[in-house]
Amino acid sequence: MKHFLDLKDISKEDLKNIILDAEKRKQKRDPSKKSKLDDDLPLDGKTLIMMFEKPSTRTRVSFDLAAKQLGGQTLMINPDDMHLGQGEESIHDTAKVLTQYADIIMLRTTSHKKAIDFSKHLGIPLINGLTDLSHPTQVLSDVFTIYENKGKIEGLTIAWIGDGNNMLNSFIEASVKFNFELNIGCPKKFLPNKKILDYAKKNKAKINIFYNPNEAVKNADCVMTDKYVSVLNDKINKDKKKKYFKKFQVNQKLMSLAKKDAIFLHCLPASRGIEVVDEVIDSKQSLVWEQALNRLYVQKAIICFCLK
Ligand code: CP
Ligand code: NVA
Repeated sequence: MKHFLDLKDISKEDLKNIILDAEKRKQKRDPSKKSKLDDDLPLDGKTLIMMFEKPSTRTRVSFDLAAKQLGGQTLMINPDDMHLGQGEESIHDTAKVLTQYADIIMLRTTSHKKAIDFSKHLGIPLINGLTDLSHPTQVLSDVFTIYENKGKIEGLTIAWIGDGNNMLNSFIEASVKFNFELNIGCPKKFLPNKKILDYAKKNKAKINIFYNPNEAVKNADCVMTDKYVSVLNDKINKDKKKKYFKKFQVNQKLMSLAKKDAIFLHCLPASRGIEVVDEVIDSKQSLVWEQALNRLYVQKAIICFCLK
């Protein structure tokens, strides 16, 4: 039984095997037969519970479809409708009860600490489906998309343009595990998590921080960005934050400074015209739709890894 909370906690070998399993599962399927079951049915007789404290399209639907194609059952719960360390029941007691009902849980929460506490009391695996600190299922899927399109990931240069957020924190951890160079172009005020940067430094990751996006995209094989305001954070002054990112928009001019065959990725949802322009997200270089589809195959491989 293994949790899937952060990429740094999982060995390089296990992460590579998840990618290879996702690749095999993708090759075996006819994408037009969306509800056909996989031949091996590894989730037969098992249930995935999903809890979302905040909205989700891709994570919600891809996990639901993944579990069903693997032969399992799914149950979606809105945390507002249950006790998850709030109100009348401790997180410990909720964990003990759900351990008896289900086989694996996926949680999207505004608090990484809550996810860790919850995992400590569960007797079944917990998958992190986005917290304020990290987004490991998305980033592992993005590693798969890059590997699929470039034939490798080791030795490539990936440029992250924008906020030092949950996605970037997981990308920093991925750079340690998959040995790619990560160029970060972000405003000084919005650097990624310091502890994660220290972890990367200790593990000799190739991370370069630039406050000028033009420098960050030079020689990049892949350019990525994300929303400046997290779906988890509705309290922030959005207009004030966006002002810091004016220089950090991914547009054709910025893309032209990357390698000629560079690809563009965005985990979505995107604020078109803000962090990225239509001409980039809808261009031939953009793989955002394939990227979203790949969540399905990687979620399957993650579920199988956790239950092994
Ligand atoms: N990329 C991603 O996690 O999308 P959702 O918020 O729609 O799940
Ligand atoms: N960084 C984004 C990821 C959304 C999937 C956010 O927190 O909203």
